[in-house]
Amino acid sequence: MKEVGLYIHIPFCKRKCHYCDFYSICDVDSELIDSYFKTLQQEIEEVGMSSENLIVKTVYIGGGTPSIIDDKYITNIMKTIYSSFKLIDSPEITIEVNPGTVTENKLKSYKDSGINRLSIGMQSANDTLLKEIGRIHSWADFVECYKFAREVGFNNINVDCMIGLPMQTKDDVKNTIKEISILNPEHISVYSLIIEEGTRMEAMVNENKELLPDEDKERAMYWETKRYLESNGYKQYEISNFSKPGYESKHNLDCWHQKEYIGFGPGAHSYTDGIRYSNVSNVKEYIKCYEENRQEDSIIIHEKQDKTAMAKEFIMLSLRTLEGCNKDEFYKKFKYDLEKGFKSEIEKLEKLDLIENTKTHIKLTDKGLDLANIVWEEFV
Ligand SMILES: C[S@@+](CC[C@H](N)C(=O)[O-])C[C@H]1O[C@@H](n2cnc3c(N)ncnc32)[C@H](O)[C@@H]1O
Ligand code: SF4
Repeated sequence: MKEVGLYIHIPFCKRKCHYCDFYSICDVDSELIDSYFKTLQQEIEEVGMSSENLIVKTVYIGGGTPSIIDDKYITNIMKTIYSSFKLIDSPEITIEVNPGTVTENKLKSYKDSGINRLSIGMQSANDTLLKEIGRIHSWADFVECYKFAREVGFNNINVDCMIGLPMQTKDDVKNTIKEISILNPEHISVYSLIIEEGTRMEAMVNENKELLPDEDKERAMYWETKRYLESNGYKQYEISNFSKPGYESKHNLDCWHQKEYIGFGPGAHSYTDGIRYSNVSNVKEYIKCYEENRQEDSIIIHEKQDKTAMAKEFIMLSLRTLEGCNKDEFYKKFKYDLEKGFKSEIEKLEKLDLIENTKTHIKLTDKGLDLANIVWEEFV
């Protein structure tokens, strides 16, 4: 039996946040939602039927905004997953929620359907900043959502925050992290803003270059966050992720360990047998392919890896974790020594003080955490 993760994409949002380029659409009528879920169910059932040798370790329902739609759709999708796949005894099952779209009843229904981990998109405790980046909720909405989640019994909660936002200050970040820590979630993700092509944020920044904190300020926010969380019971286990011991996201850790996963829905990515592929990023096109029985047209192949490409990617992904790339694991998977295969790259990065080469691992140094992009370039 091969263990896999499942990713289910819910491509609907109430309003597009200015920075976001995840595939999602707004103002959707109920007919489209209905036919989307019929197609999604069909995709899950069809893949399930041809996956007898697979066992599901994690499920991640992401988006878009999974919490924007009636919870009956989520409950039905969970039923479809249970009836289409074998699952391990205690799978990690996560759903992403946006505070502006959640009710206590929805959360209860998620819990009842077997979902055991919640990821709440919060971003900042500063209401002005939330408005400026196009969020649909306030800090108070987030706190209410968090309290409902605890009340209905979620004991594994992640909170997403962002740093390097327009006009954000170090004090803003400090305050946000402090306010979140008081609530005591099991997991906190801290993402550095990426200006994605074609987003409203890109246009805003092009219009006013002063909008964003400079790189030094952004790095100071990162290190302040890291220091604060580490002295308040959180362990950093990946560049952007912190958790209480034992609450690391299994789904994400598996992705960084180059484990296989299958994505469902438009824009969802998959990785199986060394092939990276995705579904077309268009709900209507996705539905049409299934209606016309030409499922293969909904799939876009991005990469078919040979052994070298796979090894390079393995190093790159595992270097994202603070533990780094395990030499034994590398040997087991690729049947040669990491240090022999990538001698010059490792020596160069060590000289630049970007990675540390221990007996068992290569891993990012503190300087490497700030300059990870230079490290990735060596393994592209
Ligand atoms: C799919 S969204 C989370 C769920 C839900 N849609 C929401 O926003 O509340 C995943 C997370 O990625 C982060 N994110 C999205 N776009 C980003 C960007 N351009 N730069 C940095 N982080 C980003 C945000 O923290 C966001 O909460
Ligand atoms: S960040 Fe979340 S809510 Fe905002 S547009 Fe992206 S997916 Fe939708």
